[in-house]
Amino acid sequence: MSGKIRVGVLGATGMVGQRFIQLMDGHPYFEVVAVGASPRSAGKTYAEAVAGAWKMTTPIPAAVAAMIVATCDAAHFVDCRLIFSGLDASVAGAIETAHAAAGRYVISNSKNHRRDPLVPLVVPTVNAAHLAVVAQQQQRRATPGWIVTNANCSTTAMVVPLKALQAAFGPLRRVMVTTLQAISGGGYPGVPSMDILGNVVPYISGEEEKIEWETGKILGGVETAAAAAGDDGDASAFVHDPVRVSATCTRVPVVDGHTCCVSVEFACDTPPSLAAVAQAFRDYRFDGQDLALPTKPQHAIVVTDDPARPQPRLDVDAGNGQSVTVGRIRECSLFHVKFVALCHNTILGAAGSSLLNAEIMKERGLLGRA
Ligand SMILES: NC(=O)c1ccc[n+]([C@@H]2O[C@H](COP(=O)([O-])OP(=O)(O)OC[C@H]3O[C@@H](n4cnc5c(N)ncnc54)[C@H](OP(=O)(O)O)[C@@H]3O)[C@@H](O)[C@H]2O)c1
Repeated sequence: MSGKIRVGVLGATGMVGQRFIQLMDGHPYFEVVAVGASPRSAGKTYAEAVAGAWKMTTPIPAAVAAMIVATCDAAHFVDCRLIFSGLDASVAGAIETAHAAAGRYVISNSKNHRRDPLVPLVVPTVNAAHLAVVAQQQQRRATPGWIVTNANCSTTAMVVPLKALQAAFGPLRRVMVTTLQAISGGGYPGVPSMDILGNVVPYISGEEEKIEWETGKILGGVETAAAAAGDDGDASAFVHDPVRVSATCTRVPVVDGHTCCVSVEFACDTPPSLAAVAQAFRDYRFDGQDLALPTKPQHAIVVTDDPARPQPRLDVDAGNGQSVTVGRIRECSLFHVKFVALCHNTILGAAGSSLLNAEIMKERGLLGRA
């Protein structure tokens, strides 16, 4: 026995699942003991299931390579306390609910439970305080396990710098964002090369709605009144921030890294100077920054003064993929300030967020005993 928390990965063969397997290799808190995917992969070893489709730059960890892939049925993961899910959204909802009902802690990348009024939607370098709502979820839903979700990958890139601005200068009124999203964001094999090489596709199904809605939940607070009143129904545990967001999402021929071009209007009458905005990004510290977490970035936001950055090829791995790089901070002729933000879509934008959320939860005693 390693003494580590035993973990199952659902959707382990996909882009997000592979990133989980890579990031947990040698992790001090967590040990992957079970992997699940579709019936197409079930019954094969993990190495066989991802043959020709392993897209990480490091080899498959030997212990995982030899594991037999299961279907994602809750009955197959009885040894696991914690489940990381990189499941396709077409199946994630019911499967994740079944695992929580079986007493497991589920941290999901899928959209299915993000709008649930009792499920935390957490970017670890933004709103880790929301994670404590899992206790309310268990109590009010009478389930032994719980579900936590992380955000859409482009929402993640944008919301970290927005949080820094909100923390330094108070409420934001309006945000306009145009995204340039990498092909790995669509899973494997993703957009056909004939459609994406030398091209920009100005539509990603459902993406704009996710960014416009998720930002308010993430930047908002936690509602304690319903729990205090003994409400056992579905009254929301969260108070949404009223910021209004308008998004245009595009797919571009980049392998990893989502870029967001963001314009912000503050709610205050006198907006901060550009120098103050840049300093707020540099000074930003998140809730959990002081914890000794294995995958915590030194800086949640890395600011670049190079007028030609951030660029996915040069900056996507900042903070081992857990930082957002912000540059091109300048005045906006319509709103107050605009900037460009970049994050790694399968690390901070997906598996890395899940892992950092789990590390924070372990440090705060929310994962129980290994
Ligand atoms: N890629 C990103 O940057 C990113 C970022 C944030 C969130 N997300 C979300 O994360 C989830 C996974 O994304 P991805 O990019 O990793 O997708 P992906 O590469 O298409 O992988 C999907 C995974 O789901 C499994 N799966 C498909 N149908 C299944 C079924 N009927 N039963 C059980 N497992 C099934 C697949 O298994 P097989 O290999 O056996 O088919 C595979 O492991 C999605 O909900 C996505 O929206 C992705």
